[in-house]
Amino acid sequence: MSATTQANPFLTGNFAAVDDEITAENLTIIGEIPVELNGMFIRNGPNPQFLPIGQYHWFDGDGMVHGIHLQNAQAVYRNRYVQTQGFLTEREAQKAIWSGMLEPPQTDLPGGPSKNTANTALIWHAGRLLAVWEGGPPHSLQLPGLETLGLYTFEDRLGSAVTAHPKVDPKTGEMLFFGYSFGPPYLQYGIISNQGTLSQTVPIELPVSVMMHDFAITENHTVFMDLPLTFRPERMEQGQPALAFERDRPSRFGILPRYGDNSDIRWFESPSCYIFHIFNAYEEEEEVVLLACRMQEFDLASVGDDPGTPYLYEWRFNLKSGATRERQLSPLACEFPRINESYVGQKMRYGYAGKLAPSPMPLFNGLVKFDFSDGTVDVQTQVHQLGSNRYCGEAVFAPRLGAAEEDDGWLLTYVHDEETNQSELLILQAQDLAADPVARVLIPQRVPYGFHAIWVNQSQIELTR
Ligand SMILES: [Fe+2]
Repeated sequence: MSATTQANPFLTGNFAAVDDEITAENLTIIGEIPVELNGMFIRNGPNPQFLPIGQYHWFDGDGMVHGIHLQNAQAVYRNRYVQTQGFLTEREAQKAIWSGMLEPPQTDLPGGPSKNTANTALIWHAGRLLAVWEGGPPHSLQLPGLETLGLYTFEDRLGSAVTAHPKVDPKTGEMLFFGYSFGPPYLQYGIISNQGTLSQTVPIELPVSVMMHDFAITENHTVFMDLPLTFRPERMEQGQPALAFERDRPSRFGILPRYGDNSDIRWFESPSCYIFHIFNAYEEEEEVVLLACRMQEFDLASVGDDPGTPYLYEWRFNLKSGATRERQLSPLACEFPRINESYVGQKMRYGYAGKLAPSPMPLFNGLVKFDFSDGTVDVQTQVHQLGSNRYCGEAVFAPRLGAAEEDDGWLLTYVHDEETNQSELLILQAQDLAADPVARVLIPQRVPYGFHAIWVNQSQIELTR
């Protein structure tokens, strides 16, 4: 697909798709890859195979994974499409068949009105690497080759979509997930055992269908976000998109015990907002604490507007009194929050996120590390600035094997230099984020901006089925 034939900013520059799937060895390394950092950094993202039909949204493109395998201070890069059924059908037809989310749904397609693009995120659990997309089931991928094995439905037990952000409890090894839909029941909540068996799915009642992108777990509870980005098919009769933000509707956070059901859920209200991503949640005395990137509102059709700028916020839900407290913790605009994942559901000290550039496009001109230890409203931050015309994607924390300290490890992310058109893997020391990079691995092909990344260590690669 030619990058220059469309005016859509998500089809041009480093948002444009790449055509070739390559494997590249002997990459140029500036600095030194730590010899104990063995594993694979992989990032998912949209890469439309063919010129889209009608209006293109960034969320629409076919999933492509970009992986860098680090072993003994050497690096190998691979990019592969996730070969979904929709991708293969369109490849056969040599053109796009499905339109995107900004177009009216097509009801006459044999494969259904939307294409499972598998383009959003990756999760590794119980020996499987899954490419996830919130509208349908995941796809499993091979490691280290990144070949698509196929749709994965947990031995046919899956009865819902799977969020792009399942949570793996580091203590129990369980994977928790939800799936939302446009028809009742609007929400399903599922638990997968540490062996990979889908053991239970329970319906959760919502008053209306909402776009629910992420959720949180604590040691004993699960937290759902019923935020006012609602899906109402009747809007289409007025020629409006079915999905819209209702600023007069409050935000609702539903908390239930991990193994509970709809009858156990307690709802807490706070002012209207939208949240794509959470850092983490944990329990502290009688409170459940949630840390996330909060936007005042969200409009699917626009980017970079003021109410759509995300900031770090904290919510405290008191399970005893039923009270909710919400406060902003930093004036820095940020998104793609991550933590050391061995602290998922536990109180943690550090969070990492992309620092948003002053741009109408979703670009990060640096990375930020938040230190939550002093509990004040303006948390301590450390920033790594990328330098002029350099932007990065989501950064993932890779722990040093056997590390005792929460932040002993590295942050990895893809960076693109807009002036030289060079893409690279950036490796930073998480304990000294502002320092010069530990290593920069130059990639001989452009890596388009995309969505979520994962670090899979070498022993996980060897365990992957
Ligand atoms: Fe996401």
